[in-house]
Amino acid sequence: MATFSNRITKLFDIDYPIIQAGMIWASGWRLASAVSHAGGLGILGSGSMYPDVLREHIRKCKSATNRPFGVNVPLLYPDIDKHIQVILDEKVKIVFTSAGNPKTWTSVLKEKGVTVVHVVSSSKFAMKAEECGCDAVVAEGFEAGGHNGREETTTMVLIPAVVDAIKIPVIAAGGIGDGRQMMAAMVLGAEGVQMGSRFVASEEASSHINFKQKVIEAQEGDTQLTLKQLTPVRLMKNKFFQDVQAAQLKGATKEELAALLGRARAKKGMHEGDLEEGELEIGQVSALFDSILPAGDIVKNVWKEFNELLLNPVKKF
Ligand SMILES: Cc1cc2nc3c(=O)[nH]c(=O)nc-3n(C[C@H](O)[C@H](O)[C@H](O)COP(=O)(O)O)c2cc1C
Repeated sequence: MATFSNRITKLFDIDYPIIQAGMIWASGWRLASAVSHAGGLGILGSGSMYPDVLREHIRKCKSATNRPFGVNVPLLYPDIDKHIQVILDEKVKIVFTSAGNPKTWTSVLKEKGVTVVHVVSSSKFAMKAEECGCDAVVAEGFEAGGHNGREETTTMVLIPAVVDAIKIPVIAAGGIGDGRQMMAAMVLGAEGVQMGSRFVASEEASSHINFKQKVIEAQEGDTQLTLKQLTPVRLMKNKFFQDVQAAQLKGATKEELAALLGRARAKKGMHEGDLEEGELEIGQVSALFDSILPAGDIVKNVWKEFNELLLNPVKKF
């Protein structure tokens, strides 16, 4: 296949502008190294890792692949300074920050030569990320799995809005799982795509097999954005989700919701495979795929489909 080059492939020194999202309880060194090895960009999800665990994953990822990889740092969790220190000690070259203000950490990382990308859900936040010195943004739409913006702007609307608002490159996220969706995002002006849900259902993801199975069985309408009062998050509609909805209907306070959620809920669902009591973060796109694949095949398939569409935009597959 012809070599491809744009601002995103150059920024990360990768073959294809396909990025595997950093995801709590799903993206450890096995997944990140498999994606990087296949020519995309793999990202370790540090949000579910203590600093020492993150160090171990970085080291294992380095020994598994000599290709570039990154670390995602959700800024809403404690111990951010410790995570950043590990990233700098281990000389990780790419960091994706999310769920917080990019102001504090972007300059610290940039001073050490790290490429910094921030995840945004609106053009207002995209402009802020650009002002803070970020090298690119991920514009993540309402369809996406996991934490999400309050604005509920869909990927279809968000991408052109962000592309028009800033000069740095835009990576599209939210609802992307195949080459058609990648093509749509690129036509809207994105220069790369970040996929989360699709990679949850990969062989190398550290998510529990029960969760992977549930993801590939998901149908349209099986996910919903909830907990807007606290931190909006798109979840699978299981018993835990219904408990959250019931608590919200009864007028639960932020503190009560936080207590119901706890940090352990996400681990229980996505890592331990408790499909009833656990929190299951996943995007709408889970309705569109039905197989657990090796991560490298996901990268290759999306890239192949994208290229087929470049040659023949009306092709069906
Ligand atoms: C299981 C799961 C965990 C996630 N955890 C994180 C996270 O720790 N940090 C983050 O920035 N985004 C997280 N996200 C969002 C992804 O990074 C990504 O932007 C999103 O999944 C893209 O939308 P998609 O699910 O439609 O592909 C998570 C998503 C999922 C599905």
